[in-house]
Amino acid sequence: MVSRLRTGFVWVTALIIFGFLFYEARRASVSLESAEVITGWCLLCLMVFLALFNIRKKLSMLPIGKAETWLLFHTAGGVLVTAVYWLHVGNLWPLGLYEQLLALLIYATVLTGVFGYVIQRTYPKRLTQTGVEVIYERIPREVSELRDQVEDLVLECTEKTESETLGRHYVDTLAWYFRRPRFFSHHVFGSQHGRQWLRQQDAAVRRYLSDDEKVYLDQLIELAEYKNGLDTHYVYQGVMKGWLLIHVPLTVALLVTSVWHILLVHIYAL
Ligand code: HEM
Repeated sequence: MVSRLRTGFVWVTALIIFGFLFYEARRASVSLESAEVITGWCLLCLMVFLALFNIRKKLSMLPIGKAETWLLFHTAGGVLVTAVYWLHVGNLWPLGLYEQLLALLIYATVLTGVFGYVIQRTYPKRLTQTGVEVIYERIPREVSELRDQVEDLVLECTEKTESETLGRHYVDTLAWYFRRPRFFSHHVFGSQHGRQWLRQQDAAVRRYLSDDEKVYLDQLIELAEYKNGLDTHYVYQGVMKGWLLIHVPLTVALLVTSVWHILLVHIYAL
């Protein structure tokens, strides 16, 4: 309840700040003052505030507010930045080349931020649903051990049942699957394509197998489903680690480009 109230309060404050800036920008244009100067400096202050999140994370031992509170201010500030940017330029896409670069950087930073926010909210829950627990760095080794286990199983099936059907099917399709993490793009969007693909592989070969071979196929599919869980972890944990490697450099580029833009504007104004 308290957390909801706090969230509501921060978003309403962001709205009030925007309302105030909107009013000030209108007032400035009516009195023939430069509205861009007001909105521009506010935009820079907001961007610097958002970028300070990086420093907050590095100095987590200092008592400068909870990470959760910072994130709340950061997301509200990130959305406010977009609105203030529109107020500053007066349209969605500016005309000049340098201004377009600035627009691209601001949109890309905000979009990667929204993407990161969504995955941080949704991925951990989905990872729990896989029923698999694994450290990211261990996944390639786990996949390789699983592959050895599966290949032993297929060889055993061929020797004991004296039939090559499952072995051939493995070489033609499942060997590809067990070689490394698969279905990256499907997992990113939470699609169950990996599981469906496994069901298809199961159905394609099951009808040609004897009862003895089917016992081996069941074990193989069980291992393949475990591998699907590993793949999900590989993708989700990778994306959760990797998105900041885009969001943060974009922030740096945005700040540098903005400072250069301010310098240029002031030099031309002289
Ligand atoms: C111009 C806009 C933005 C700038 C300059 C900016 C900058 C930053 C910076 C510097 C960090 C710290 C990264 C680190 O060192 O780990 C960060 C993290 C983050 N940002 Fe943004 N950001 C912006 C917009 C947004 C928006 C709009 C959202 C979401 C709606 C967002 C969501 C996040 C999240 C979820 C994190 C990671 C928090 C964590 O790891 O706990 N950002 N951002």
